[in-house]
Amino acid sequence: MKKILLLFGGESTEHEISILSARNVQASVDKKQFQVALGYISKRGQWRLTSDFDNLENGRELQPILGAGKFAIAGQPDYQPDVIFPVLHGVGGEDGTVQGLAEMLHIPVVGCGVEASAICMDKIATKQILQTAGIKTVPYVVATKTADYNEIAKKLGQVLFVKPPRQGSSVGVSKASNQSEFRAALAEALKYDNVALVEQAIAGRELEVGILGNPPQAKASPVGEIIAGAEFYDYNAKYAADSTSKTAIPADISPEIAQEIQQIASKAFTVLNCAGLARVDFFLRGDEIYLNEVNTLPGFTNISMYPKLWQNSGLSYTELTTKLINLALTP
Ligand SMILES: Nc1ncnc2c1ncn2[C@@H]1O[C@H](COP(=O)(O)OP(=O)(O)O)[C@@H](O)[C@H]1O
Ligand SMILES: [Mg+2]
Repeated sequence: MKKILLLFGGESTEHEISILSARNVQASVDKKQFQVALGYISKRGQWRLTSDFDNLENGRELQPILGAGKFAIAGQPDYQPDVIFPVLHGVGGEDGTVQGLAEMLHIPVVGCGVEASAICMDKIATKQILQTAGIKTVPYVVATKTADYNEIAKKLGQVLFVKPPRQGSSVGVSKASNQSEFRAALAEALKYDNVALVEQAIAGRELEVGILGNPPQAKASPVGEIIAGAEFYDYNAKYAADSTSKTAIPADISPEIAQEIQQIASKAFTVLNCAGLARVDFFLRGDEIYLNEVNTLPGFTNISMYPKLWQNSGLSYTELTTKLINLALTP
């Protein structure tokens, strides 16, 4: 039996979402092949080995022994996982930091390595690389606190999206259509980062594709659509119990557009040097396709698109987690 350390929680604003994702991943892992240990990272960043999602704070502290492929646990034998499966979203997990620690421990990790994780966490860096590769992204400017709405609106149009470049789950994202909304949006985004990403608002559809595998063998899933139950797909539209957001899998689009989106997603995965998995998100306005962002550790919650996209192509949740773990073991 291979030993899998599932890491979840974490210091980011997406702590709670990560716990929901990890519960599903834990439930779906094939227990005949894999022995799963729960590695909970508290909001303060402590790592604890726990046996139970309902008792997260009381686990035993995990101390990484660098270069040795294992962890020390007070009063217990060392713990040596074969693979780390980070089910962490956002800063301190999806951004290359945990991947770097895994590398220094000499433990294989599910999903992208340090570089791709760090780049994809940063929406501005991602755009710069995609632009170089000829992949269309939403027109944008990088703004600091003195930015002026009218000047930006001249370039990008009246309706803007303002976001922190390195967040997720729509935290800090707002829409702004005038100077005062823009000031508030900018202040909100700048709570999370030292610059804000300001984009043209794309009045279109939101489409998502899963990628699974290591290039050149990585495969694209069917295309899914997010139908946000709010003005845009904000935090509540994503996760609130009373959210009316829906997904359509596969999306009701022409086969040509679907294929083009899959091709762009696969190309982005390769040029960003991704591995294992990613969910690539798009906007479609008319027949114009814009790549919005690449999520290297997409959600695995009950409503999450990534596992659903694979289910639609005939891969069960358990087959998906088996494949992800095996991709880390034998890249
Ligand atoms: N340029 C844009 N045009 C239209 N809607 C946008 C734009 N940028 C973001 N949004 C809306 O905000 C949501 C969250 O923004 P996104 O860039 O995906 O950040 P996150 O990483 O938090 O998911 C998107 O799913 C979409 O509904
Ligand atoms: Mg998004």
